[in-house]
Amino acid sequence: MDNKEQQYQQLLAQVKSLCAGEDYAVSVMANAAAAIHEMLGAWWTGFYIWHNGALRLGPFQGPVACTRIEAGRGVCGTSYERGETIVVSDVDQFPGHIACSSRSKSEIVVPLKDRNGSIVAVLDIDSDRLAAFDDEDALWLERIVDVLPLSSLQNEI
Ligand code: SME
Repeated sequence: MDNKEQQYQQLLAQVKSLCAGEDYAVSVMANAAAAIHEMLGAWWTGFYIWHNGALRLGPFQGPVACTRIEAGRGVCGTSYERGETIVVSDVDQFPGHIACSSRSKSEIVVPLKDRNGSIVAVLDIDSDRLAAFDDEDALWLERIVDVLPLSSLQNEI
């Protein structure tokens, strides 16, 4: 097991334990953002939650960010629309990237699906280094968001 795999194993176990007995998605998303942010040493880590026709800023760690992203806009809106994880090695090369900070150089966005397969939110992680994320990160982060209790999310916000 390499170092990265070990770190993600630990992170997955930590997020699972943060979810134990919790049914309020926002609290768990807040702790998950903190745990992921710390483990990855990211520049910005947070959730955008689908609400009334747009992605809205949810629990996050890092500097202030844009509050609303339309479907199909930027990396987050594109991931939401396609329903798939997007890894961007260089944000300047991604057409329509929404630059909340010039420090952000690369990012990964992972969609969160509820039990019916509908996308209810996305996890957005930005790094101040180029090419900070790869397919291995995508695989692990998909496993991590999969354990979050999302069923009540649309009723809560
Ligand atoms: N990077 C995102 C915008 C949100 S912020 O960077 C926090 C995007 O292009 O979707």
